[in-house]
Amino acid sequence: MESKKSSLGSSTPDISPSAAPSYAYALGLTQFQGFWIPSRHVPTSSIISFQKYFQALHEDIIVVSKPKAGTTWLKALVFTIVNRHSYTLSNTPLNSANPHQLIPFFDVDLYKENPNPDLSKISSPRLFSTHLPYSMLADSIKRSNCRIVYITRNPFDIIVSLRHFFRFIDDWSVEDYLEMFCRGEEPYGPSWDHALGYWNMSVEKPSNVLFMRYEELKEDSVAQTKRLAEFLGFAFSMEEEKTGVVNQIVDFCSFNNLKDLEVNKTGKIPRSIIPSNKLFFRSGKVGDYVNHLSPAAVERLSNILKEKLNGSNLTFN
Ligand code: A3P
Repeated sequence: MESKKSSLGSSTPDISPSAAPSYAYALGLTQFQGFWIPSRHVPTSSIISFQKYFQALHEDIIVVSKPKAGTTWLKALVFTIVNRHSYTLSNTPLNSANPHQLIPFFDVDLYKENPNPDLSKISSPRLFSTHLPYSMLADSIKRSNCRIVYITRNPFDIIVSLRHFFRFIDDWSVEDYLEMFCRGEEPYGPSWDHALGYWNMSVEKPSNVLFMRYEELKEDSVAQTKRLAEFLGFAFSMEEEKTGVVNQIVDFCSFNNLKDLEVNKTGKIPRSIIPSNKLFFRSGKVGDYVNHLSPAAVERLSNILKEKLNGSNLTFN
């Protein structure tokens, strides 16, 4: 394997399984509090500030995911559900802003720019997001009654999605990404520990942590959107259900609709390293991995996941 270009554009060593000391090195990941953090873009200092200073309010809503699990979609749904009495679908800010601009990340946005930002003026319920694992959330979140919505996705589709997404900064193959996941050395990995943290809390505190799956949201968007709204404390009324409000929200937040909005076709989030919003919308399908990963590769990671998740009741579709 030839040496690869890293996200900083420098040359990195051969990372084939036999030769590589670590993918983490080449990717710029730092092992921090038990997980691999992409510290070039998410300085550990911003995580420490978040953990130290963030004061959760009971009404807060926090969207959590690993990258490429459906974060953008879930943010659009949460924003629309919560704000549906303030905005119609024709004047919602989602028509002119990418969902990531409306629900900022603690670590990538808020605490990166300022170690102790003033979040007190944000209207209630405040909407935040993060890719951090449960164990790394600020204690105030764990002590409060706020709501956390976690979305996960089968790791094989995540691998393919990540590979396409990061083509703007590296030229790694889908096999490279698979290798990273098998080692647990991917951004915010290991994936099994990330999912297990939220899975366990969703079992322990079901009114505070909702565990969602990309595949289920895709398969029955209406039922899952109703489940989400109920969990958030913004359940749809009978009247809304009868008049088709749920379907309208599902259609508005669908892949086809969001990807065709001008802001998502040609826009870019200010100060973000992501060069274009259109990168957040690729194909939006379940099971695309069969076109990119060999059955042997799938079996390899499946076996690792089976072992890591053994005894937990958590499985991936
Ligand atoms: P694919 O690359 O498989 O198409 P994230 O938002 O966590 O970065 O995840 C991005 C993935 O979600 C991409 O998957 C993207 O196409 C898909 N996606 C984005 N918006 C979506 C939507 N409204 N409905 C379904 N999938 C969506």
